Parts: sequence; structure tokens; C-alpha cells
Amino acid sequence: MIRRKGQFYILETEHTTLILKPETAECVYYGRKIRFCGIAELLAGSERRIVSQPWRGDFTEQNVLLYNADGGFTYDFVYSKGKISAEKPEIAGLPSSYGEGKTLELKFVDGPTKVCLYQYYTVYENSDVIAVSAQLVNQSKKEIRLRRLMSIQLDLPREEAEVISFRGVWGRERHRTVQPITKGIYICDSKKGMSSHECNPFVILKNGTGLYGFNLLYSGNHAEIFESDERGRIRALTGMSDYMFEWKLAPTESFCAPEAVLCYAESEDELSERMHAFVREHIVRGKWKNRERPVLVNNWEGTYFNFDEKKILSIAAAAKEVGAELFVLDDGWFGKRNDDRSSLGDWYDNVEKTGGGLASLAGKIRDLGLAFGIWVEPEMISEDSDLYRSHPNFAMKIPGREPWRIRNQLVLNLADERVQNYVVRAIGDVLSRSGAAYVKWDFNRHFTDCFGKGIVGGEYFHRYLLGYYKVVSKLTKKFPSVLFEGCASGGGRFDLGNLCYFQQYWTSDDTDARERLAIQAGTACGYPQNTMGAHVSAQVNHQTGRRNSFAAQFNVACGGVLGYELDLSALTETERAVIKEQIAFYKDKRKLLQFGKQFRLQAPRAEGFITVSADQSEAIAVVNVTETHPNEPLPFIRFKGLNESAVYSVSVRGRTETVLAGGDVLMRGAIPLFGVFDTEPVQRECGGLFSSMYILKKVKA
Ligand code: DGJ
Repeated sequence: MIRRKGQFYILETEHTTLILKPETAECVYYGRKIRFCGIAELLAGSERRIVSQPWRGDFTEQNVLLYNADGGFTYDFVYSKGKISAEKPEIAGLPSSYGEGKTLELKFVDGPTKVCLYQYYTVYENSDVIAVSAQLVNQSKKEIRLRRLMSIQLDLPREEAEVISFRGVWGRERHRTVQPITKGIYICDSKKGMSSHECNPFVILKNGTGLYGFNLLYSGNHAEIFESDERGRIRALTGMSDYMFEWKLAPTESFCAPEAVLCYAESEDELSERMHAFVREHIVRGKWKNRERPVLVNNWEGTYFNFDEKKILSIAAAAKEVGAELFVLDDGWFGKRNDDRSSLGDWYDNVEKTGGGLASLAGKIRDLGLAFGIWVEPEMISEDSDLYRSHPNFAMKIPGREPWRIRNQLVLNLADERVQNYVVRAIGDVLSRSGAAYVKWDFNRHFTDCFGKGIVGGEYFHRYLLGYYKVVSKLTKKFPSVLFEGCASGGGRFDLGNLCYFQQYWTSDDTDARERLAIQAGTACGYPQNTMGAHVSAQVNHQTGRRNSFAAQFNVACGGVLGYELDLSALTETERAVIKEQIAFYKDKRKLLQFGKQFRLQAPRAEGFITVSADQSEAIAVVNVTETHPNEPLPFIRFKGLNESAVYSVSVRGRTETVLAGGDVLMRGAIPLFGVFDTEPVQRECGGLFSSMYILKKVKA
């Protein structure tokens, strides 16, 4: 709800309140819901701003940087008017959240130049999230140059604070990282043209009051800046990065910053619960929004580039036998691609490897009773390709300069409309002729050599992103029944912008169950489990060389959307029987596992997750013992999310014993692992990672 009370706007979600005083561009209050908002006057005068005031000596990092119409770079955005509306304004060319929620529009004008700044706040009551965006309009008579337009500026009182960010690298994405904020500036960002493996746009500022979560609906360069300043504030800014950014605005032209989201909670679990609800309800869309996701088998780690029709059909037949529902043909099916040196851009069938083409292979897979899915990497080009030979200017490179190659490939210049059209046509044709029910959209390198003819350098990164969104938006609209999974060398572009088009995202190329614990736990802080692709792979892991049993891998993969990625046709009967039983169990519990409320579990030497049904009548927990030393006390765990006053029956999957325990005991008592249940056989089978799955059912209210 949004209401106006004198000079104040009060924005309320179910559990939080944000009070703004636009006259002074102040954020008067943001936090836990307060009932008596008459105190707003008492809190005003804090100098906590939602818009910077450099003209008035505010040199803390600013939400706007520009070369103004009067030749200077100062501005003084003075509040002009506010409006509450049921309609959320469109954010031109960019993804945006959707659903019921009122929007507050605040207009600020720089008096001498008439440049306008609009801030929009959309309130999603049920998920306790406020979506914020900004737009700058050049109402002056001269060109202006925008150097930065952040989506959110939020000043909070300085208290002991730390930033929790989700950082990593290829194969180790989104590890939860904590950095205390004392004095000065702390930045999380990406300059790679993609949201990146290194630093996710989801960040949390934690202070003595609570936790403030920020995220951005953008898949390109981003920055989250936290400055602890001399005025006793911590300023949080989130938005597009200003790295090499400069945007010219002629008179009457405007620029929209990507939408960002804001969420307050009093614990990390609460914050995640709210972000999950928001992503599920207001970001993910289309036919697959609330549908149970199929169990897939992907051939990548099973064959890499080395396959033919016979091999693929043998894996698909084994996939059908174990109960999988979808077969995904990964890289290597097109052009003359037998390794990563050629053919990107040539989206026509390699007849030899597919045994007569995609349509025929897809048909044979469907005849086996499986849906067919296809891998593509639409934004890339190999120099050894027909596309490059005929259109070298389609590649992102600078004339007269040797381009930097990564994985032997170049990026296509999606800032160019002709290239966008080519990609829509070529990929649309792949989907039509294969009848694919699923697409894995990959992106295997970051940007270098940014250049587009006729595009001013500072505009390049963003123009690419606008082109990219145009392409994904056209293709996802054209194929509304297709389940789209995004991928970027694993989880290099796992962000809210992409989740507006792709219903799920490949979390990481690292499929080692132990490595996945930190990756999935970090990802799940901000994103719900039904957006996270999680696969069981070969028992000797290809990324780490470590051995993980199928049982342990399955347990960990149940924390996301389950898939298998190995040569199933090469397994023994016994191994296939293990997988068959896993898939049958998963399908039975899939609704709970994919759509239940998931909480992370953490204790010394043990971690995992629990997924609880909305009515708290059932739950599945996975607990992994991450370290074992001789003669150490037993590790323990405390469950979460259960009904305190209910009684649950608890059993370990694979065993018959059951104990009864109260929800309160299960959540407050430190339950020794391997104690009551003696999970010894499960442990032995699990090799390195001791992993157990607990099944909880409410027996009494
Ligand atoms: C990188 C992806 O993350 C992998 O899953 C696989 O699809 C390869 N690309 C294929 O080249």
C-alpha cells in the first residue's frame, strides 16, 4: 500500500515500511513495519537522501553523474511532484518485474537546466519487496552527457555494518562473502559486460537494525556501492556500473536505468524467503512459472563433442529407462563443430553427427517417449565459420586491432540490429525445425574489444544489453511453451534480468557435490531453488577428480532442479537401478522440492538445506557432513521452517526406522547426526561427502 500523509509518502508491505519525504529527498525510515506513522516528523532532518545533492556539498558517492546542459556537472534536483498509480511505467527495452502493486512516481527537476529525474517505487506487498527504477529526461535545450544513473540510492544510519556479497569465479560461483564496513567505500561490481561469475548483483547490507537486500534486473555491468561517510551515514547505491559509460541525451530524450529491488528483513532466512517469493511471483513468467520442471538428461559431460546419432540414442534410451523426461543435446551438433574452435554462428545441422539432421534425431528421441531439448550459444561467433567468412563485421572487434579470443571465440555485436535479426532468425529456425521443448542458452566468454560502427564508445555495453534483451524477448515470446534455461560457462549470468526470460539457470559447471554446497547455498540466498539447475554427474567428478557417490550427488541436486549429466548408457544395471529409484522418488516429491520454502542449514562441520511445504505438513532435509576427524564430537543440525507445535515423523531416506519429534525440538535441539538414525550405511556409500536425506511428515498438529 502507498499513502500520502502531509509531506510524507508511506510505502507499506506486509512486514516493512518505507517512509519518504520528497521535499527534502529524504528516506526518513526503512525497516520493520511500524504501525504509527505519525512519527515521521520526528525522524525527518536526517540528511539521508534518495537523491544526491552535490550542489549542497554532498560528495558521498552519487546516484547521478552528468555533464549538464549549462556546461557544468552540478545539479540540484528539487522535488516537483509525486503521483501514486496502479500502473507501473514500462522500462524501455529492459526487463521488469510484474504483478499487482502500486507505484509511487516522484519527479525532481534541476531548476536552471530543466533536466528531470523520475524515481519510481513499486510496492509488492506479499513478498515485502519494493522495486525501484529511475529515469532521466533531458528537458533542456542542449545535449547532456549522462555518466551515471543508479537505480537505488538509500542512506542508512551508520551502525556496525557488513556487506554480504556473493562472489567467486568460474566453477566457484556465488560463495557467500562477508566484509565489514568501517570507513570508506566498498564496491561489488562487474566490468565484463555480463553480471559475472565474480560478483552477483544480489547483495545484503547488514547493520544493527536488520538486513537490507538489493538486487538488479540487469545482466550486464553492474555496481553496488556502499560508502560509510563523515555524516554518519552508510550510503547504498545499486545499478548499472558507470565503467566506460557515457550516454548522450539530446533535448527531449530520456534514459531509463534498470529496475532494482529492495527488501528488508530481520534475518538472512527471512530475507531469502522474501526474495524467493518475489522472484517466483514477480520475475519468472510464462507457462513454466508454476509448473514442475522435468528431470532432464544432458549429454555434455557424457560425450563432450565426441558423439554420433547412435551414442546419443543410446544415452536417450537409458534416460527413458531410468525415468527421465527430457533429453538435452548439448554443444557439438551443428556446423562442423568437433571441438571449441569452430562453427559458432552456423546454426545448421551436422548431418553426420545427428544422423540426418536435428529434426530426425529429435523425432527419434520423442519416439522414445522423451521431450527434446537443444543447446545453443546465440551470442557468439567462431572465426572458423561460414557466418564469419560472409559477415566478419558481425563480430565484436575493433578495426585494426587483433581481437582477444576466449575459448577461441568472439562475441557477436548484438548492439547492431542486423546481427539481432540474424540471431532471431537462425535460432528461431533451430527451435522450429527441432520442435524443441527446452533450450539451454549458453554464453561462454566475457566482452573485450567493444566496438560497434556508429556507436559511441561509452554507450556500447548498454546498447549490447538492449540488443540482447530484444533478441531473448522476441524468441521467448515466439516460443511460449518452451522451457528456457540460461547458462554462461556455468552460472556467469545468473541474475534477475535473465530470469525474466529464462525460467531457470545453470548454476555452475562445477558438478562436484561438495563444491556445489557453497555454490547452491550462496545462490539460494537470493534466488529460489526452482531457478537453479543442479545435475548428478559421473562418480569421479570431471572438475575436481573427487569421488562422490550417486546418493550424495542426488541429495545435493535435490536442492535445485534435478538433472543428470553423464553417459547413462555406460553405467552398470545396478547403477541405473539406483538412478531409477532416485528419479521416481524425486518425481513423487518434486512439487515440495521445487516449490516448497527452502532454508539453508548450517552447523559446525555440517550443512545442507530443508524444503518445507507451504502448510508445514511435510519437509525434506539434506544434511551433509563436510569434515570428519577421528575422535571428534558428533556433528549436529537444527532444522528450520517447521511448525513448532506439530509432531513430525522423521526417517532417513533408504532406511525404515522412524522417530516422532516435535517441531520445536527439531528446530531448537541440536540433533546429533549419525545418532538416533545411525546413518552408517549411507555414509559408507557416500565416500567423501557424508550426506543424508531426512523425510519429515506431520503426524499431529
Ligand atoms: C559451458 C556450459 O556451462 C556447459 O554446461 C556446456 O554446455 C558447455 N558450455 C558446452 O560448450
